[in-house]
Amino acid sequence: MTPSQILSERRSIRAFQNKPVSVGTVTAIIEAARHTASSSNMQPWRLYAMAGDDLDRLRDAVRNSLAANPTGEGAEYKIYAEPLKDIYSARRKQCAEDMYSRIGIARENKLGRMMQFSRNFDFFGAPVGMILAIDRTMEPGQWADVGMFLQSLLLVAHEHGLGTCAQAAWAAMPKTVRAHLEMPPELMIFCGISMGYADPDAPINATFTGRVDFDAIASLRGFVA
Ligand SMILES: Cc1cc2nc3c(=O)[nH]c(=O)nc-3n(C[C@H](O)[C@H](O)[C@H](O)COP(=O)(O)O)c2cc1C
Repeated sequence: MTPSQILSERRSIRAFQNKPVSVGTVTAIIEAARHTASSSNMQPWRLYAMAGDDLDRLRDAVRNSLAANPTGEGAEYKIYAEPLKDIYSARRKQCAEDMYSRIGIARENKLGRMMQFSRNFDFFGAPVGMILAIDRTMEPGQWADVGMFLQSLLLVAHEHGLGTCAQAAWAAMPKTVRAHLEMPPELMIFCGISMGYADPDAPINATFTGRVDFDAIASLRGFVA
């Protein structure tokens, strides 16, 4: 499988089979992602991978916290720019539309959308849940590095036949996640990652998100045809 193939095949997966992922497979994925490039080789990422009872305990704790405060605990970083420029706001709306229309939840069905969103905090039922963190002293360049590490995890997982979904939603639950992981104060949650074998029959997994045109994201200059 080439990187181009994996890039074109990978999709976010939000429903999983009830089938465990071996520790060997998870270790191999992290081991491969460990080779991600970073500015000055600082490798400013820290990953926590959970399964089984440990993951269930986090799910329970998050459920309890959300029952007390449904709006979450407040992310430690701004997940989206405020205000979001129209061009990105439109893409964001389209992304939501791509997913919710696939599972038949209309725009007016606020409760339905909220319930689907809350599935984030169950790691969409995945057998593996991950939390990816960054040292809070890091600057935008290093956040980009952590994004590259995230990309490596998603792509290598695909190579191993696993589905994934990156989840910024997890940044909204720092208190509970930090306590569960005994995360040192210098670390900040960037995102969560659901990982497992995709449920091939789940309509949500057929969500297709397009991309803007080549010309909207890249300029070729000085090339000879
Ligand atoms: C950093 C990051 C955070 C994301 N956060 C969420 C999230 O909280 N919940 C979710 O369902 N999807 C989340 N996604 C998935 C994106 O919506 C998805 O990658 C995008 O729509 C493109 O679709 P694709 O992954 O299927 O190609 C996130 C993706 C990234 C890279």
